[in-house]
Amino acid sequence: MATPHIAAEKGAFAKTVLMPGDPLRSEFIAKTYLENAVLVNDVRGVHGYTGEYKGKRVSVMASGMGQPAIGIYSYELYNFFDVENIIRVGTCGSYDPDLHLKDIIIAMGACTDSNFAAQYRLPGTFCPIADFSLVRRAAEECEKMGVNYKVGNIFSSDHFYEDDNSGMTWAKMGVLGVEMESAALYCNAARAGKHALCICTVSDSFVHKDEICTVEERQFAFTKMMEVALEIA
Ligand code: HPA
Repeated sequence: MATPHIAAEKGAFAKTVLMPGDPLRSEFIAKTYLENAVLVNDVRGVHGYTGEYKGKRVSVMASGMGQPAIGIYSYELYNFFDVENIIRVGTCGSYDPDLHLKDIIIAMGACTDSNFAAQYRLPGTFCPIADFSLVRRAAEECEKMGVNYKVGNIFSSDHFYEDDNSGMTWAKMGVLGVEMESAALYCNAARAGKHALCICTVSDSFVHKDEICTVEERQFAFTKMMEVALEIA
């Protein structure tokens, strides 16, 4: 079966798909954590794998960067491949002084400057939110693992490079950080009647600008986030 962006058998994906932005990271997750991982998609080099984690069938496939990209992949997985849950495992910039590099944001809601939801022609502003059960289980896993985390709003920006640095304005509304994918993912989940969650590791801070982590520290932090996602998959 082929959609415009995925060529795979109908049942090739598990009910739950972990979705990092980076294709290399999806390969890392498959090779590090999944048993019997099989390559199920490689259209445009976006490798999708299905395997087992602690006996549970799980898939992993990259979204690419930005809301149009995750909008395409999550739409096709939900609507053509019977995927029920997509858990984005990404990175974000933090606006929150309590959060430091390698901490985790569980994105309960996603504000955005994207026009993605305009397609639904709603008579107001749609509020893209995560699935509550996935949020709760992610928070429980973070507690168990002793990870520093916050649950709250994230800003899904359409711009990595901003002309005026206005993104930080969202911080006055308690928004915890910025990334570029969650709002579109949450919209697609809502429209399809499916479930989504975004967990992000803080890779840079707009508050603690002097903080830098080594390659190894970053890797370890991402590893924790992936373990949280795999445990709740
Ligand atoms: N902006 C947008 N997306 C991001 C950032 C950022 O600063 N850091 C990690 N993902």
